[in-house]
Amino acid sequence: MIDSHKSELGALWNIVTLLADGEFHSGEDLGGILGVSRAAVWKHLQKLEGFGVGLSSVKGRGYRIQGGLDLLDAEKIKANLTSKEDLDLRVFAQLDSTNSFLMREQNPSRKICLAEFQSAGRGRRGRVWVSPLAQNIYCSIGWEFDGGVAALEGLSLAIGVAVVRTLQIAGVNDVTLKWPNDVLHQNKKLAGILIEVMGDPVGCCQVVVGVGLNVAMQHNQINDIDQPWTALNSLLAKEAKSTMERNYLAAAMIDNLIAILTDYHQTGFARYHSEWMQKAAYLGDRVVLRNGQQTVTGRFSGVSSTGALCLETDLGEQTFHGGELSLRSLS
Ligand code: BTN
Repeated sequence: MIDSHKSELGALWNIVTLLADGEFHSGEDLGGILGVSRAAVWKHLQKLEGFGVGLSSVKGRGYRIQGGLDLLDAEKIKANLTSKEDLDLRVFAQLDSTNSFLMREQNPSRKICLAEFQSAGRGRRGRVWVSPLAQNIYCSIGWEFDGGVAALEGLSLAIGVAVVRTLQIAGVNDVTLKWPNDVLHQNKKLAGILIEVMGDPVGCCQVVVGVGLNVAMQHNQINDIDQPWTALNSLLAKEAKSTMERNYLAAAMIDNLIAILTDYHQTGFARYHSEWMQKAAYLGDRVVLRNGQQTVTGRFSGVSSTGALCLETDLGEQTFHGGELSLRSLS
């Protein structure tokens, strides 16, 4: 069930579920659902464009969403999970941000939330994560860790491994991981990871792991992303492979995330180190690392067993730890 209470989508959500079949529906039917006259239907439907949904209308036939929408369904996702953990999973039609939602919870641990639309999706380094309706996956999971923030250094890299494993299940193998955790395909961003921590920095803390995966988003509908990006379904289409229903994809993602979250307190990043290195973007390349106004140039030689970045610089091998660092290839 989709929880669409109090969302701006409101009554429009019923229209979305009807039009998701990709068929034409008459203005009269849609007006009935919206509680407005036939003449006023188009004005209401246009609001959907603000959510990133493209509509078309044909005189005498009505309105449709071309190609339909593949909507999320919490029951379907749960039914496809192999994880036996006791999990509280909710799917919302709209949230500000799935990470923000869980960060507002008293105890987010073992709670999972997905949203069809994020009005204020957040990326790393204060960036916006563009989150159109019913096209991608926006998923956050809360988890409790003992042992303080320091023990979590490599967690975001390990989560990158979970995303890579999910993409392999979906049929895409040639992705790379850019330190610390961007998931790229031919240098274009396919998925992003945002990890936020609250609680005791040296003891028990709550972590919210957020993953955004571009699935069906199309370049002709999205203008406001300030970096090269790609989406899973277009990669599959190029290889004439079939796409995976988003509910199955979400279930696979959640299973992979939970497997790593469950083990991490015992294994740390060390267990995922070689899998991460096999996918490392820019390995052996000359790179520039930025930290605010400061830059360091060197050859990227990999990551340590705790997830720190290793650079061969003029001063010898140096290691760098998370935070606000940004990495760029010079080759
Ligand atoms: C990045 O690469 O900058 C991180 C992007 C993380 C986006 C996801 S979408 C689900 C969760 N909710 C958010 O607001 N952000 C994360």
